[in-house]
Amino acid sequence: MNKIDEANEFIKQNKAKVNPKYRLKYHLMGEYGWINDPNGFIQYKGNYHLFYQHYPYDAVWGPMHWGHAISKDLVKWFYLPLALAPEEDYDRDGCFSGSAIEKNGKLYLFYTGHIYTKKEKNDDYKQVQNMAISADGIAFEKYEKNPIIDVAQIPDKASKKDFRDPRIFKIGDTYYLLIGSNDEHGIGQVLMYKSIDLIKWEFVNILLKGNENTGINWECPDIIRFEEKDILLVSAQYMKAKGDDFKNTHSSIYFVGRLDIDKGKFEYENYYSIDYGFDFYAPQTTIDKNGRIVMVAWMDMWETDLVTNRLGHNWAGAMTLPREVIKIGEEIYFKPISEIVKYRKNEYSLQDIELNGEVKLETNGICYEIDAEFEPQDAYEFGVKVFKGKYEETVLSYNCRDRLFTFNRDRSGIGPKGERKTLVNLNEGRLRLRVFVDVSSVEVFINEGEEVMTGRIYPDSESINISIFSVGECRVLYLKKWDIDVD
Ligand code: FRU
Repeated sequence: MNKIDEANEFIKQNKAKVNPKYRLKYHLMGEYGWINDPNGFIQYKGNYHLFYQHYPYDAVWGPMHWGHAISKDLVKWFYLPLALAPEEDYDRDGCFSGSAIEKNGKLYLFYTGHIYTKKEKNDDYKQVQNMAISADGIAFEKYEKNPIIDVAQIPDKASKKDFRDPRIFKIGDTYYLLIGSNDEHGIGQVLMYKSIDLIKWEFVNILLKGNENTGINWECPDIIRFEEKDILLVSAQYMKAKGDDFKNTHSSIYFVGRLDIDKGKFEYENYYSIDYGFDFYAPQTTIDKNGRIVMVAWMDMWETDLVTNRLGHNWAGAMTLPREVIKIGEEIYFKPISEIVKYRKNEYSLQDIELNGEVKLETNGICYEIDAEFEPQDAYEFGVKVFKGKYEETVLSYNCRDRLFTFNRDRSGIGPKGERKTLVNLNEGRLRLRVFVDVSSVEVFINEGEEVMTGRIYPDSESINISIFSVGECRVLYLKKWDIDVD
């Protein structure tokens, strides 16, 4: 049996052993074992395809395979057989992250082959870029002349080891690959290559190099081109915290600027966090047939307590809700994809409430959306508490004086604790929140997606209540809540 069939068979035999307690209902996870980064995100022949970094045999990171799921609407996903398994000389220790493109009706995957060069030392590794092709979007064949970019094609002043996560895109008749890297001082950077046939690749330039604050290595580069601005996304390892920002071990950030494709240079004006919560990494975008830009990220973080693994639940890792990326004026917004509203059930609604103190809602749940708008009058602080139980609560609050929105998971259950804060301005005196709750995740879209905060939490099964609260007078213009039901 080859390694893909072996892995598929293992999943089939074992998936009933997954403990469902913290499984999400409307977010993509692996069927069994571990997942991390989204890969190869593309709409192809009528379906959205989302691949993912996957170790199917255990709920920890291991030799990477590519898992594969498809969806018509980005909410309801169906599993396909795994797409890639590590079994060639050039990828034997892992098929690492990468991306997809369609050419003449075929689906092409670009990924990094990871190889340990000495038996014992995890530090001695080499990474090369490979291609795999499919005519039906289900079965993939690795290109017989892989690697398509070998270590010899890494320029001077770039790490000979960290060379991964190829992001393919096309401008005119030319294909480009962005690859994550770091320089001789351990500063994250992105390399750019070009090709006219997807096979022969030529180094163009170091597209962008960070500084001592922006991480020691950049992973998973991605680019979005708007009319007058471009944004470059990178996942920056060990980025330094700055005030309330970049507090996670690793940060996914975007640079706003301009891509000069001929020179292979990205000039930026500024950079920002993509998500201000706890668990968001390695985002990848795609442009669908309607021109919509959709982004998905891994909804977890390296080097954190893996609760579902620790508990022996036989799975770990989930994807965020897909988000639409929109540029409005000079700002970039991240909005929940519109298809999610199809799955709303059991509407609960409040109108025009004067709030002062805490009110428990006459509804509860663990899998729902809340949409609410607040107008703090003389309130000092107000917000929403979800997963509220006797001893637990997850608190989403806004402090009017400091203009800080906080996601606090100190009392959220048995997972990692802490809080994250981000500066938010009221919008004509109001704050709108769309909160997506799904068993062990909370995603908060603030003011139409100006800011987003995402976190995983592991509450007790009794912690199902919801409340709204205010310290001082606050008007709740409306609050709606729907269960999200994808069955
Ligand atoms: C990012 C990352 C990538 C790599 C993959 C390995 O989370 O470290 O750089 O390709 O995960 O699973």
